[in-house]
Amino acid sequence: MCGIVGYIGNKEASPILLDALRKLEYRGYDSAGIAVITEDKKLNVRKIKGRLSNLELLVQQNPVVGTCGIGHTRWATHGEPSDLNSHPHTDVSQTIAVVHNGIIENHAQLRTWLERHQVSFASQTDSEVIAHLIDFHYNGDLLLAVRETVKRLDGSYAIAVACSEHPDLLVVARKDSPLVIGRSEDATLLASDVPPLLSHTRQVQYLEDLEVATLTCDEVHIYTLDGDEVKREIQTIEWDMEAAEKCGFEHFMLKEICEQPKALRDTLRSRLKDGNVSFPTQVETLLKGASHLLITGCGTAYHAGMVASYVIEQVAGVPVEVTVASELRYRVHIRKEGEVCILISQSGETADTIAALRMLKERGIPTIAITNVVGCTISREADWVLYTQAGPEIAVASTKAFSTQLLSLFAIATLLAKQENTALLDALMNLPNMAQLLIDRQEDIQRFAASQFNKTKVFFMGRLVDFAISLESALKLKEISYTHSEAFAAGELKHGPIALVDTSTLVVAICTQPSLYAKMDSNIKEVKARGATALVITFETVHNFDECADVIFRIPQTHPLFSPILSVMVSQLYAYYCSVLKGNDPDKPRNLAKSVTVE
Ligand code: AGP
Repeated sequence: MCGIVGYIGNKEASPILLDALRKLEYRGYDSAGIAVITEDKKLNVRKIKGRLSNLELLVQQNPVVGTCGIGHTRWATHGEPSDLNSHPHTDVSQTIAVVHNGIIENHAQLRTWLERHQVSFASQTDSEVIAHLIDFHYNGDLLLAVRETVKRLDGSYAIAVACSEHPDLLVVARKDSPLVIGRSEDATLLASDVPPLLSHTRQVQYLEDLEVATLTCDEVHIYTLDGDEVKREIQTIEWDMEAAEKCGFEHFMLKEICEQPKALRDTLRSRLKDGNVSFPTQVETLLKGASHLLITGCGTAYHAGMVASYVIEQVAGVPVEVTVASELRYRVHIRKEGEVCILISQSGETADTIAALRMLKERGIPTIAITNVVGCTISREADWVLYTQAGPEIAVASTKAFSTQLLSLFAIATLLAKQENTALLDALMNLPNMAQLLIDRQEDIQRFAASQFNKTKVFFMGRLVDFAISLESALKLKEISYTHSEAFAAGELKHGPIALVDTSTLVVAICTQPSLYAKMDSNIKEVKARGATALVITFETVHNFDECADVIFRIPQTHPLFSPILSVMVSQLYAYYCSVLKGNDPDKPRNLAKSVTVE
């Protein structure tokens, strides 16, 4: 996903912008660029397709001197990755430069309108219209020109604007795309996310939707689109850069997998009071009064919701419906009496989840967000927010965010449980320790991956929560190892998937539901009979699969409903080691972005 940065201060802007762009690399990108206003009031743009090292080389060969500038990493949506389509985009006279994250939905109409006004375009992007529109509205007042421009934009945007006539000013605006402003003693910075700001400051201000702001070296003023000034508190970021760096691990993903015991402990701490699960009073009242729960999210977050639906229905007897946000936002939604919606999103910036949230709010359905990023769009727009305490998740493949989402949802299940509350509470409290025991045995999984990473077909199967974890496991494996992996409810095996099973297939059977061990045993025998290799993931105390499995990975004993937090760690580690053994970069898988801020 595109990332934007900006700097205005006393130092040379270009090295700071390049360093900031590095910190946004995790979002995924295919080209990059910067624009710096030089001392003689000229706008100098350097942009190029490919990795940031290409841009660094370009800047080294053609340096730009100046203390005010903007930068961008592009993840192509409109127009192929190319030098010309890279940002920043400029107006025809090269006075105004713009970087943009988001999608301008009415760009075609705006382009036609601008072309009728003799504007010629240099790129195929939707973003370029913004630079020309600002120029059209510009009469010396850059803030006014940006305000007038964004009023004409449909879609999503976080933009930063530099103008050669104002070497001491940047103007920013946002709608549906994140933008954070950093305030240090000798500079003001901006970025799509916090990490680029941390080497300069921890003092930040979040721009809200439909706001614009002027940034100078020592002042920030935020305005509505009508020009009314808005007061915005300065927040302090509690985590530091070290937390966002690798700390000796080869990859962020492995670091984040190994951080799960701590992330779970921190999240649990935030959900416990006086030895019991605890939520803000209004959230507790809302959840206890709900006669129907709707859970939504995308990708891994959706899988967390799916696990929760089984658990909550079983222990609380409350009907739970789970739908991916990209479907929920468009389908006919029949409102149920007493319905409450839980939205799950690590980043809190996922376009489909935000759209679903807005749709639900319009219909008056109470919303509770589970998210990991303080100040994100979803946290600001939902009625209530429960933060997971996973810390920054940098690797594209979500791991610790998922397990902490599960923990938060299990805390809700424990709160609502009609029976077994004490057993669930004990199990919940023990999960961080159990997770540590599992992580300590990661070499077993590494060894198994070394013998299997070349498999071209991997199937995951399970029943109930194990089916949901099968879906998450297959997603993780395909995301980073590019192996064709599928997941299915084990009972569906005979209804089709078994046709694909042969001697080249690895089948991972997740078996943590005691009442269904016999059924799983039959399914494993069925795939073994067709020559597949079978890996079974089950509890350390269970020996039902000793005969039929080729390999067994035993997870620490916990309440069977809470096993997903542990079983998924086996799949995460397996996917990670397969990815590394295949020579991939697990932190930055091809074609994927960390934060999917466009539809
Ligand atoms: C997870 O490994 C994926 N990269 C992806 O499915 C992700 O979970 C999804 O895009 C939702 O993101 P969010 O939690 O930030 O909303």
